[in-house]
Amino acid sequence: MIICVCKAVSDKTIRRSVEQGEVMSLRDLTRDTGLGTCCGKCVPAARSTLAQALSRLPASSPMHGDLAMPMAAQMSC
Ligand code: FES
Repeated sequence: MIICVCKAVSDKTIRRSVEQGEVMSLRDLTRDTGLGTCCGKCVPAARSTLAQALSRLPASSPMHGDLAMPMAAQMSC
């Protein structure tokens, strides 16, 4: 399922990025994919998907998401 229509980022991409250790926060996801940098409507769904993916990591994982809101209103497409 596409989470960010503007930047074509899927839930699968988010989960894979977390599993591969590339993404630990919404800020990381925004930096790597551009998610949330256009209209920002995807941010709640992205935050939820990211939280679920992070919660599925092994308990020993040092990864903890800060889930900070990207500054979508200040960015352009
Ligand atoms: S849907 Fe993600 S920035 Fe528009």
